[in-house]
Amino acid sequence: MSRDMLLWDETLFRDPQALEIDYVPEDLLHRENQMQSLAYSMRPALRGMRPVNCLLTGPPGTGKTSAVLKMFEEVEKHSDDVVMLKINCQIDSTRFAVASRIYRKLFNVEPPSSGVAFRKLFEKIVQRLIDKDKVMIVCLDDINYLFHEGHADEVMYSILRAHELFPGAKIGVIAVVSDTGKLYRFDPKVSSVFLPEEIEFLRYDYDEIKDIIASRVQLAFYPDVFPEKVQEVVANYVDSTGDLRVGIDLLKRSGLNAEKRANKTVETEDVEKAYESSRLLNLKRNIMSLSADEKKLLGIIAEMGQSKAGDIYENFHEMTGLGYTRFYEIVNKLAESQHLDTAFSGEGTRGRTRLIGLASPSEDVLKCLKR
Ligand SMILES: Nc1ncnc2c1ncn2[C@@H]1O[C@H](COP(=O)(O)OP(=O)(O)O)[C@@H](O)[C@H]1O
Ligand SMILES: [Mg+2]
Repeated sequence: MSRDMLLWDETLFRDPQALEIDYVPEDLLHRENQMQSLAYSMRPALRGMRPVNCLLTGPPGTGKTSAVLKMFEEVEKHSDDVVMLKINCQIDSTRFAVASRIYRKLFNVEPPSSGVAFRKLFEKIVQRLIDKDKVMIVCLDDINYLFHEGHADEVMYSILRAHELFPGAKIGVIAVVSDTGKLYRFDPKVSSVFLPEEIEFLRYDYDEIKDIIASRVQLAFYPDVFPEKVQEVVANYVDSTGDLRVGIDLLKRSGLNAEKRANKTVETEDVEKAYESSRLLNLKRNIMSLSADEKKLLGIIAEMGQSKAGDIYENFHEMTGLGYTRFYEIVNKLAESQHLDTAFSGEGTRGRTRLIGLASPSEDVLKCLKR
């Protein structure tokens, strides 16, 4: 490799950090109302009171996590007595994992590992908050990942009931549901203590997308590097998925593509090439996070093409030995996480005649399954 290959003099990026996934934008454009509601709900914490619980809903990439992180920054500016923590429920998926995460935040050490009951751990957490006279805000981000396993209610309930068990505890919850069309419901036991302020994050419309892309381009690239016409190509891709994360990722990759060609500006072809690789990468990441049985089912459907549930089940049962109930649980989970489309065949509305197919092209799915 020649030394020149690693020289950065010619970079098109003024601030590459602005395109990283953990970047929190200075201005969250077109989310003024949501920020207002969130601020209003969190305000009591600044006066040492328990904040109003919130429920944030909306499809992926609509600014929910960013809104929470921005709000945390704001609260931090005004008070030292509020402990804030965002928990990624895709990673911490049980009440014990969540409690461990909180423990680490409060004590700055690992919690006692095995053999400790959840209740004991939680008691220590709450006692600490009371002793130090702190208010805590816990954001359970993407809690929809816990609905399938039935952990969502358990996690919510154990946190929300803290002040019942320990008078004086002040813990507020921001639950974030990345909702892809289905309405999730908490158990009535949870709902009766949650009582959240509901804040909806609708998909951005095309003009909003263009606006957000333009402002990120301005931050991340040198002037005139990313022409408006090419930004529109990015905005079109974002508009087709509704996920702004796709857009930020495309800006980065297409910038890198242009650099690779030693070009001074980003062109449409750079974006198109970037889209092709990021599309597969996203799919791959999603598929890799599935369980072995879930992957097997996807593989079967990829081979069969759209088919009747009953026929798919026969193959699935033969391969895994699993029964119909489990089969249906997996189908439902894969449908909710947008891997499968289910349609009605017209021969009755339920059960084995239901048509099931992949939501993505089967050659893509097979490629990703091959690892
Ligand atoms: N209104 C906005 N203004 C600027 N950037 C945004 C906005 N909404 C989303 N983004 C960016 O889009 C990406 C996805 O946003 P995120 O908050 O993670 O969405 P969600 O949590 O709803 O999936 C992030 O990179 C974020 O910076
Ligand atoms: Mg998020």
